[in-house]
Amino acid sequence: MLEIEGLSVRYGAVEAVGNLGFTVPKGSITVLLGANGAGKSSTLNAISGLAPSRGRIALNGAELGGLPPEEIVRRGVALCPEGRRVFPSLSVADNLHLGGAVHAKGEELARRTEAELDRFPILRERYHQKAGLLSGGEQQMLAVARALMSAPRLLLLDEPSLGLAPKVVEQVFGLISGLRTQGITILLVEQNAERALEIADHGYVLQSGALVLSGSGRELAESPLIRDAYLAG
Ligand SMILES: Nc1ncnc2c1ncn2[C@@H]1O[C@H](COP(=O)(O)OP(=O)(O)O)[C@@H](O)[C@H]1O
Ligand SMILES: [Mg+2]
Repeated sequence: MLEIEGLSVRYGAVEAVGNLGFTVPKGSITVLLGANGAGKSSTLNAISGLAPSRGRIALNGAELGGLPPEEIVRRGVALCPEGRRVFPSLSVADNLHLGGAVHAKGEELARRTEAELDRFPILRERYHQKAGLLSGGEQQMLAVARALMSAPRLLLLDEPSLGLAPKVVEQVFGLISGLRTQGITILLVEQNAERALEIADHGYVLQSGALVLSGSGRELAESPLIRDAYLAG
């Protein structure tokens, strides 16, 4: 579904990602692992049109590189950003509507909102509250729901479990597995490598902006490099 070839992301003199290539098969959960600063967020931001990049980024054969972010959303790619980035002074309702606003209006926007409130009943309870008053876990649910409001075929998730309590982390991973069974392809960036590899079909490991390892979720979970660097024992 997604093909990346020779991707580079530069911020001035800093090369965050260099000559990166990988694919995300349709219907898969594909995981990107790597230490802080490895270039994971830069990669997701480049796919979303939010970071300056060179190279080929193709969705079902059509080039995304150079398109404005809202057009990339319209093509079916949604980003749930690192740090959740909900709008704290806006209501849950307004946060959701902003996610769908790019291409759903009126009845379609209302239908999608209902679908997300069914998926996340806690957001229905909090519907008129300011997003900044929600717990970390609730804000993460809101950030995912906001991304889903654009009805993506490919969902990019940047560290969705970061900073959440263990019980909530489990909910988040359950949610991700559930989205895949609904036909949404997922590219997941995670610090929690162990848990991520359990649900992943395929994974890639980035080091200083370059690919150093790839394999099935199971292969990576058993690889010595991963075990030493990311997993306890
Ligand atoms: N907006 C930016 N301006 C300058 N440098 C950046 C910017 N964003 C990220 N970087 C740098 O790019 C590298 C990769 O960062 P990032 O993609 O955020 O890594 P990760 O998500 O894997 O932690 C880091 O060295 C980081 O400091
Ligand atoms: Mg990051």
